Amino acid sequence: MTENEPFLRIASLAKGFGQGAAHVQVLSDITCQVDRGEICVLFGPSGSGKSTFLNLVGGLERPDAGQIEVGGTDICSLSDRDLVEYRRRELGFIFQFYNLVPDLTIRENVEVCQHLSKDPLPVDDLLQSLGIYDQRSKFPNQVSGGQQQRCAIGRALVKNPGLLLCDEPTGALDYKTSKEILCLMEEVNRTFGCTMVIVTHNDAIRHMSHHVLRLRDGRLVEDARNDALVPAAELEW
Ligand SMILES: Nc1ncnc2c1ncn2[C@@H]1O[C@H](COP(=O)(O)OP(=O)(O)OP(=O)(O)O)[C@@H](O)[C@H]1O
Ligand SMILES: [Mg+2]
Repeated sequence: MTENEPFLRIASLAKGFGQGAAHVQVLSDITCQVDRGEICVLFGPSGSGKSTFLNLVGGLERPDAGQIEVGGTDICSLSDRDLVEYRRRELGFIFQFYNLVPDLTIRENVEVCQHLSKDPLPVDDLLQSLGIYDQRSKFPNQVSGGQQQRCAIGRALVKNPGLLLCDEPTGALDYKTSKEILCLMEEVNRTFGCTMVIVTHNDAIRHMSHHVLRLRDGRLVEDARNDALVPAAELEW
């Protein structure tokens, strides 16, 4: 991992929804950089534009203005087809409600995403390190929320993505399980070196994150580096 090498470069980013009187300006003039290998946490009140920001970086939405560069690729200039390819190859998404395929086993949910990458991680090794190898033949509704989220992390990671985008990854989990998932994400960051952007309402996560961003009413009001990291296992909230 190279120190302080920008991986995500965002400049003058703007996004609104709706026409005329119904227009809502969701993000305005966002400029920031996230370094390669960083855990970056994004805070902000409900409705401040966090998920919209992730969707733009993840190529699920197109901005109205501004630039988004990921690992040297200007994703705004990609065709729709190349954008799909970019998402498949470079990105892992983790959501609050897991979004697993109910008719596939835990192992199959991870395995289906393996084929999206030219350089995937071995599925069984990954299930082992996520602590769900013994659950691999069960279906999502036969395991706990925490185990489903581990599976969702596995599904995002198996592609060996450069960038992991997480939207409230512990939002549906109890305290103990949230902590376990945060420890796992910290370990994933250390082991695989992937850059992570985590959207959360949990303020304690700032202490385990290299970089803290905060939105208010669609504007960036905090952009700070954190030199005194606290391991996820020691966080309390
Ligand atoms: N597709 C859309 N069409 C119209 N408005 C939208 C759309 N997506 C988001 N918005 C609006 O943009 C604003 C920001 O939404 P966003 O989902 O980014 O907020 P958030 O910070 O993720 O909130 P939360 O913490 O509740 O998840 C909200 O007012 C929302 O209603
Ligand atoms: Mg949201």
